[in-house]
Amino acid sequence: MKIMLINGVNLNFVGIREKGIYGNKDFNSICGDVKKYADEKGVELTLFQSNCEGEIVDCLQRAYFEKYDAVIINPGAHSHYSIAIYDAIKSISLPCVEVHLSNVHAREDFRKNCVTAGACSGQICGFGELGYKMAIDALVAQAK
Ligand code: DQA
Repeated sequence: MKIMLINGVNLNFVGIREKGIYGNKDFNSICGDVKKYADEKGVELTLFQSNCEGEIVDCLQRAYFEKYDAVIINPGAHSHYSIAIYDAIKSISLPCVEVHLSNVHAREDFRKNCVTAGACSGQICGFGELGYKMAIDALVAQAK
């Protein structure tokens, strides 16, 4: 199974930014651990991060053209207002899980509206990096 894992704007600053919310572990270590988890599950995981909305859209389209089986996406703040990412997720018609490290529903009101989650199969939030692993498990189980 081929899964594309997309992290959006400011996620590369995890480990540096707001450690009380996102933890001390740096982004590259999180990516390494999630990749290792995927390998153990026999999942071919591609990791992509960008701070640019258009590059996220390009990566979603790449998942379509390169025949990925599913997508996991943490769009960062774009989750709360990007119609372009919403449309791209809808367009590719692949199972897609939205992940947020923090519990966006327990934070500021503007984070409670996740526009992009409306285009996804489901959302996992509040479990830190474990959320990415839970999303892998969900997609593998669903594909069986
Ligand atoms: C986030 C939550 C978003 O509200 C925020 O803008 C982020 C990170 C998370 O993973 O918890 O950048 O997506």
